[in-house]
Amino acid sequence: MSETKLYPIESENRPPSAPPAPSRRQVLLGAAAAGGALAALGVGAAKSAKAAALAVPETAKSMGRPIEAEAYGMPSKFETQYKRRRTDVFVNKQNFSDWSMSPLQHQKGIITPNGVIFERHHAGTPDIDPKTHKLVIHGMVKQPLEFSMDALLRYPSVSRFYFLECSGNGLTDWLQARSKTVQQTHGLLSCSQWTGVPASWLLDEAGLQPGAKWVMFEGADGSSHVRSIPIERVMKDTLIVYGSGGEMLRPENGYPLRAFIPGWEGNCSVKWLRRIKVSDQPWYFRSETARYTDPMPEGKWRQFSFTMECKSVITNPSGGMKMQGPGHYEIQGFAWSGNGHIKAVDITTDGGKTWREATLERPILDKCLTRFTYRWNWNGQPAKIASRAVDSTDYVQPTVADIAKVRAIVGFVQHHNGVHPWSIDANGEVKNAIA
Ligand code: MTE
Repeated sequence: MSETKLYPIESENRPPSAPPAPSRRQVLLGAAAAGGALAALGVGAAKSAKAAALAVPETAKSMGRPIEAEAYGMPSKFETQYKRRRTDVFVNKQNFSDWSMSPLQHQKGIITPNGVIFERHHAGTPDIDPKTHKLVIHGMVKQPLEFSMDALLRYPSVSRFYFLECSGNGLTDWLQARSKTVQQTHGLLSCSQWTGVPASWLLDEAGLQPGAKWVMFEGADGSSHVRSIPIERVMKDTLIVYGSGGEMLRPENGYPLRAFIPGWEGNCSVKWLRRIKVSDQPWYFRSETARYTDPMPEGKWRQFSFTMECKSVITNPSGGMKMQGPGHYEIQGFAWSGNGHIKAVDITTDGGKTWREATLERPILDKCLTRFTYRWNWNGQPAKIASRAVDSTDYVQPTVADIAKVRAIVGFVQHHNGVHPWSIDANGEVKNAIA
């Protein structure tokens, strides 16, 4: 992967391809000028006396490309780094159970483009024809029902913004810095606007029998992935989703239909959904016993730990990047919580000795990524930076040391929401500093 270079806002060394840098005067005077915060970064500030005549670029002297025959727009050919990638830290030998991670360090804004939403599958990605796909609801219901995709698409629908995170996110980097980039440490995380039908509307139509307490979601893939979900949660805000980011789901994210349980571990959001069964008890499937459980002290295991708790990470600067000299930088990152919305994010640039509040960018939505920024004047000395989020329940993102006091960090440990530090050395190289 090519190294991302980060230039200070007022650097003389910016390459010709970098956007124009504001002058020192703009940076220093900007805060006082009209436009306040933006001007402080030199964006939209008054012209510098030293400004050179703006050259007309070659692209402005000729016609661009006409509409292409296959009119599905693709990223610029220069944006080669914006790719979903497997991690090379932990390679699964039988590669039908696999995952690829989102390039969070390149994500602009809170929405992950469909082509780079992370994907995790236990038996590859099936290609399912929506014309023949069916969803069945049965078990403890008054009237079993079968839906075609056409029928589901005729239902009233909702569109909601939520993050999606795999509970295995970060499992390689608890006590040792094994990963290099934020894509590898945190890239089993994405955020989109999901469109579909609330599960409660379909279950209300089938009619729940008295005593119904659990719901099974089953996928139509080679793993027949299944999960048991408490009925209160299914009736509260679970969606039966067919759309993400303005179009039908991508095959790897569950096309044509998936369950989506906001704020819960991604494993519960069963893709390629074909069956919903209602029962009075859970099924204790493999993903609820042998996997997706958490080791606890004294040899105990925690089951049904559904919620993805409050977490945050700095994506810029992050592992693998290089700072191009001292100066002003904007620290950027994401915070999220499966228990509500983000209330605050604190930033440390001195390894946790002092913390300052970051700016949260709107919209700040429940169970959705929130973008944060923080202005930092790096003095060129070694530094350790990290973010710490607080959610609307007043839960504060813990450190790994805090988590280790109540859980056992041994083996494949899921649900890593610890504070993640990055170190910056005197050369400006940014590295994973989790341990
Ligand atoms: N659903 C089916 N049918 N098969 C699967 O392998 N993987 C689960 C879940 N749903 C899986 C599934 C896991 S472990 C996660 S983290 C999420 O899907 C990932 O969703 P995504 O691939 O759309 O990011």
